[in-house]
Amino acid sequence: PCFSVVIPAAGIGKRVGADIPKQYLTVLDSTIIEHTLKPFIEHADIQRVVVSVSEDDQWFAHLKVATHPKLTVVKGGKERVDSVLSALKALPETDYVLVHDAARPCIQSSDIDKLMAHARETNSGAMLAYRVRDTMKRSDQFNHIKKTVDRENLWHALTPQMFNNKQLIDAISGVQQQHLITDEASAIELAGGQVTIIEGRSDNLKVTQSEDLLLAEFYLSKFNSLVKE
Ligand code: CTP
Ligand code: MG
Repeated sequence: PCFSVVIPAAGIGKRVGADIPKQYLTVLDSTIIEHTLKPFIEHADIQRVVVSVSEDDQWFAHLKVATHPKLTVVKGGKERVDSVLSALKALPETDYVLVHDAARPCIQSSDIDKLMAHARETNSGAMLAYRVRDTMKRSDQFNHIKKTVDRENLWHALTPQMFNNKQLIDAISGVQQQHLITDEASAIELAGGQVTIIEGRSDNLKVTQSEDLLLAEFYLSKFNSLVKE
């Protein structure tokens, strides 16, 4: 099958609270989004990478990677789902699309390969996730515990999430309250489709708060030194 990639990068990074969107902050030797793009751009089985950036983005065009022949840049939208949809529509005919957050710079090619292997073996979509390790509690609005949630079969959703391009466009377009879709799998679920979880790495974190920048730096420097050894 043929694989393409969509990278939503049109957010403002409000929770990190820097003076520029978090995907353009530098960690180690390059910006977060450049770390994110690298394994996809370099992957021999990936034909095209579409990045959605915000309408008033002043940063992406200045990156070295911006002129890479595999790359297409489109305008994102108000919510993540809008940015994903606009990128999906810019894709040529493709069997599978992997949607991956610009804010997840620690993605490793081994996890990308696991998803692709699933597509080749089963001809169906899948997403990365890792198992919940802590004891989970559900409370009421006063923080009083109502119950302990069974941790078995409970997962943290990650990206990439990989689906048939047309199936994903149809699923997202078919949802009434699109702003409630926080990941691609939830659109497929609502459309009645089947989504398989592939166990991914928990260090594939999303930079969400400022302290995540330190974690990302730590993991990226570890990965670098492992490659050099
Ligand atoms: N994203 C996007 N378009 C939007 C909102 C988010 O493409 N309208 C992207 C972000 O750039 C990020 C990914 O979706 O790569 C995950 O979203 P999130 O972590 O929430 O990033 P932000 O929305 O930028 O952060 P915040 O919610 O703190 O403002
Ligand atoms: Mg957000």
